Amino acid sequence: MYLQAMAARLSRGITNADIGTTIKDPFVDYATLAKGFGVYGEGPIRDPDALAPALKRAIAMVKSGQPALLDRLAAVAAIAGALVAGVVTSRAEDAPAGDPVNGKRLYLADGCFECHGRAGQGGRFNYLTPALAQIALPVESFIAFLREAPNDMPSFSADVLSDKDAADIHAYLSSLPGPKAAKDIPPNLNQ
Ligand code: HEC
Repeated sequence: MYLQAMAARLSRGITNADIGTTIKDPFVDYATLAKGFGVYGEGPIRDPDALAPALKRAIAMVKSGQPALLDRLAAVAAIAGALVAGVVTSRAEDAPAGDPVNGKRLYLADGCFECHGRAGQGGRFNYLTPALAQIALPVESFIAFLREAPNDMPSFSADVLSDKDAADIHAYLSSLPGPKAAKDIPPNLNQ
């Protein structure tokens, strides 16, 4: 968002904001890098069906005391989230409805906003941080994710953030408007 805003302000065209700021074409092959350091690595995983078995192998490796690296493409994670959604829907329906007002308080008090943006629009920590507004993850998967978060996302145990509080944050995120459609953004941003 910030990069796009700066590119617009300098009339550089917002579609070029990733030049020099994002490593892609080709993406870094992290699994191969890991292997270069003698660490177990798998990926990049493009097929959602390959994610679950890869996770099992990586977890087994970690349990045996070795580090493991899994590289998955973001789209796969989104699809995996959707698959998980299918599995847990019935449980999610049983969950008590969250309180978005308390959720907003916690989202600010617990520092989620520092990395994910005040409007859940996403941001930057050591790399791009996902947007959370209009969150697609069902509440059960959301809570499970917070308990054991990957990479730079800090984990929040139940001692720090109860299931109820996490469900309140989820309700708040669901209530946020999310990004505008491209057609609703005024063309003269850089005037
Ligand atoms: C220090 C920065 C930081 C803080 C604080 C933080 N997060 Fe994150 N979060 C991240 C990063 C980085 C990722 C992406 C992790 C990855 O997959 O590599 C992430 C991912 C997520 C995701 C997964 C989204 C997706 O679409 O994959 C959820 C949900 C989430 N965070 C919720 C929260 C909540 C709720 C809080 C506060 C209780 C919080 N985060 C606090 C950095 C942070």
